[in-house]
Amino acid sequence: RVDHAIRPQRLADYIGQPAVREQLDIFISAARGRDESLDHTLVFGPPGLGKTTLANIIAAEMGVDIKSTSGPVLERAGDLAAMLTNLQPGDVLFIDEIHRLSPVVEEVLYPAMEDFQLDIVIGEGPAARSIKLDLPPFTLVGATTRAGLLTSPLRDRFGIVQRLEFYAVSELTEIVTRSARLLGVSADRPGAAEIARRARGTPRIANRLLRRVRDFAEVRGDGTLDAAIADSALNMLHVDRHGLDHMDRRLLLAMIEKFDGGPVGVDSLAAAIGEERDTIEDVIEPYLIQQGFMMRTARGRVVTRQAYQHFGIAAPTPPDSSS
Ligand code: ADE
Repeated sequence: RVDHAIRPQRLADYIGQPAVREQLDIFISAARGRDESLDHTLVFGPPGLGKTTLANIIAAEMGVDIKSTSGPVLERAGDLAAMLTNLQPGDVLFIDEIHRLSPVVEEVLYPAMEDFQLDIVIGEGPAARSIKLDLPPFTLVGATTRAGLLTSPLRDRFGIVQRLEFYAVSELTEIVTRSARLLGVSADRPGAAEIARRARGTPRIANRLLRRVRDFAEVRGDGTLDAAIADSALNMLHVDRHGLDHMDRRLLLAMIEKFDGGPVGVDSLAAAIGEERDTIEDVIEPYLIQQGFMMRTARGRVVTRQAYQHFGIAAPTPPDSSS
């Protein structure tokens, strides 16, 4: 994979998320003007929207290095202590999946974030020693799929909180056009737009589909990526005309065919389609909800009329409430 070749490195190259870009531009300029490190920043939103990319851009714009890790990798307090003591003044420490930090590691993070103090116990029993160290000022950038997954003491320690939204088709068209140029693919506007329309609002998916459509264009066509080639390739990949993939259709069809359209609890749905509950909540349903195919209600998930229409299935007539 040559992801780094198409990943934007500066805020000016980052397409979409206008509110996030405007705010970060101001906060970064202000911190730089005061010669301070940027406040700790939490970025949340569905996978593939550019959380890691933004963390790298923040470091580049601040002119500092970035050290990256993830919640599940930091198993012990000492693992985090090793990362923290390796930082230069102003550096970015990026923790992906920060909602998966263990409670003991999280405890070490609090004083580090708040006072740039490392406070850990080494050894066990009567030989145990408490060690306090001053850390250089740094910026913690945390990423998670849902802000609600964080404990409130952790969430409260971020001075900047940014939510990434699904991208508009016009924004994804720009992203695909830019990626095609960087990959040396000749794609016309309608071809890029066809990929954009069918990429679930997600740059990572758009860039993946671009590579697969390029393969198709080279083998079945003359290498030029136009709308007809994109359509044929995406149909072959079972990405439907609304951009729903195999898992999206399985989820919606299970709700329609096995649960009468809902309401159904997410655990029952997970069992019915053989997926993890977390995958449904973090990866599959956010886009389906945003596009109006299903809803979350207090009693569970329900499909909408639009979902029935998508599959050409007659929606059950609601019970007549006037009689
Ligand atoms: N590649 C992935 N995300 C992007 C974005 N937001 N802008 C430009 N290129 C991208």
